Amino acid sequence: MQTEHLLADQMGLARAAILLSAGEVVAIPTETVYGLAGDARNGAAVARIYEAKGRPSFNPLIVHVPDADTAHGIADFPPEAETLAAAFWPGALTLVLPLRPDAGIASLVTAGLSSIAIRVPAHPIAQALLRLTGPLAAPSANASGRISPTSADHVLDPDGGLDGRIAAVLDAGPCPVGVESTIVGWPHGRATLLRPGGIPAETISDRLGHPLADHQPDPSTPNAPGQLTSHYAPQATLRLNAAIPAPGETHIPFAAPGPFTLSESGDLTQAAARLFDTLRRADREGRPIAVAPIPDHGLGAAINDRLRRAAAPRS
Ligand code: TXA
Ligand code: MG
Repeated sequence: MQTEHLLADQMGLARAAILLSAGEVVAIPTETVYGLAGDARNGAAVARIYEAKGRPSFNPLIVHVPDADTAHGIADFPPEAETLAAAFWPGALTLVLPLRPDAGIASLVTAGLSSIAIRVPAHPIAQALLRLTGPLAAPSANASGRISPTSADHVLDPDGGLDGRIAAVLDAGPCPVGVESTIVGWPHGRATLLRPGGIPAETISDRLGHPLADHQPDPSTPNAPGQLTSHYAPQATLRLNAAIPAPGETHIPFAAPGPFTLSESGDLTQAAARLFDTLRRADREGRPIAVAPIPDHGLGAAINDRLRRAAAPRS
């Protein structure tokens, strides 16, 4: 398959919409990371997403919709979910909610669960596309177990990318947020942080007026995010909390200069936006990677979550 490289103009958007309505999969920009999109109402299209990613199993996908009204036709919103949707949509927040039986979503999207992960992306190109296509299921547009893509070049990376495996990539340049969305659900009736991400947990709990419960992995329930231990893995080994590199290591500093720094000034927003691109560039040096300590508040929690997974033993 020849992967089309589409510009994010009227023609590119129209072409992406045609491919998606024909059941093809297309990598699309969002404010967090590039998503590998397929028509959420078409089971064959959703199957192509798993196929292109080489996912070992059918973990459930996030459905993207243009606005909260559309989301209300797909999922039931408890009062706290209404509050969060009103506060943070469009934006980098995914809500896991009860799936409406009449939603018309292919069961492969939710892997047969009675809940669905749903979000309204803020990226203007994602918005424009969703208005042409309807709901799109989209995991991050990387091969399974690899680093999430924050540019069209990452999606097409000859080394482990999706070039030749997907119909097209819609190129809108780098993703402004750079880490995946924060996922919140109510698995035991309490608002629970299922995955740290682009909106800090503190910002969400401030809005609710109480802290988010921590996610307790429960082997009896089908689980959320990043269950595979090594999920965001570069090829190289990764050493965390490394203020100073050992000889032979490629160092990723924070709040200090250097060719691979996440942010010279110690800005966590900039560090999140640069994270995955920096890991890819450092990986190309072909040496072990050492990452400086990153503060664990705000977006630092999402950054540290991704780094811990990248450093975890490979399965
Ligand atoms: O920023 C993002 O969230 C990006 C962009 C493309 O929107 N998407 C993304 O998708 O990160 P993915 O598939 O890489 O991660 C989705 C996570 C998975 O870990 C999955 O387990 C969880 O959401 N998830 C999906 N549906 C769920 C459900 N019904 N219950 C619990 N977790 C669910
Ligand atoms: Mg992913």
